Amino acid sequence: MQKTPVIMDVDTGVDDACALLLAALDPTVDLRAVTCVGGNTDVDQVTRNTLAVLEIAGREDVVVARGAQRPLIERAVHARHVHGDDGMGDLGWVHTQRDPDPRHAVELLRDVLGAATEPITLVPTAPMTNIALLARTYPEALRGLGRIVFMGGAAQRGNATASAEFNVFHDPEATAIVLDVAAERGIPVTMYGLDVFYDPTVTRAQAKELIASGGDTARLAGELIEFQCERFGSEQATIGDAGAVCAVIDPDGIGTTALPVRVELTGTWSRGRTIVDVRDWSGDLAHDPHGRADAMVDVALEVDARRYADLWLSTVDP
Ligand code: RIB
Ligand code: CA
Repeated sequence: MQKTPVIMDVDTGVDDACALLLAALDPTVDLRAVTCVGGNTDVDQVTRNTLAVLEIAGREDVVVARGAQRPLIERAVHARHVHGDDGMGDLGWVHTQRDPDPRHAVELLRDVLGAATEPITLVPTAPMTNIALLARTYPEALRGLGRIVFMGGAAQRGNATASAEFNVFHDPEATAIVLDVAAERGIPVTMYGLDVFYDPTVTRAQAKELIASGGDTARLAGELIEFQCERFGSEQATIGDAGAVCAVIDPDGIGTTALPVRVELTGTWSRGRTIVDVRDWSGDLAHDPHGRADAMVDVALEVDARRYADLWLSTVDP
């Protein structure tokens, strides 16, 4: 079976954990490494959470490294109100004896990408601070990248603010740098943003079935969904970041359009917004003082939500 080499960059949180379970267990994913960054919670807790989730999935073989504590410019704004104090719903799953790799995340990215004999798909589901630092510190390592499939941004909405999505809002400069170097080097980029992020959902009833099925990965997966249902008072919850991994495993499950994308860095109310240019009349562009953005991104605007939710369910509870 042809496997896709993947590196994930995470701020393990509840839905990053859903994504890690999928990447660790799907037979078509060759999970080469996971790097950690501050975001949903502090980077040390993110690292502990990531090690714990991989251990529960039986994947202690996957190398994990600790990365940036805070964004390039901004102060860290954690999302414990969403993911709980430990970032994993305070469900009591975070026990691990394993230490992260002694290298910084940027050094691990440099080494794994540098040693790659085939293009690697990078899946950031977090603020892209580590990736921006890699691009500025070891730009030659980017040659190992085949595609970036990132969870972040949105064409039509925000969540951290009215106009910005959390991962981009947390480190707008990092996202701008990553889109810029990808455009410069011709690295294809897929944006799995809020336009599709909330659609693949799992019900509370399905979560209960996962919990009852007995296996640790299924039980953790079910409890993560149940935690979100409780937190948001809902009968279903999104698989969140796991959708970006679904987009690697089953790219036909999303509908993408190649569109120019910029990141707003200076707007008072719009800082961190991904400005996705959907205009299709050349006259508009001809008179636009800003000109077209350099970054052409495959923006996911549709998703087969049931297909992705079923892919996740069937993988976490084999
Ligand atoms: O906006 C959603 C993103 O922010 C997800 O990656 C979630 O884990 C949080 O980091
Ligand atoms: Ca995340």
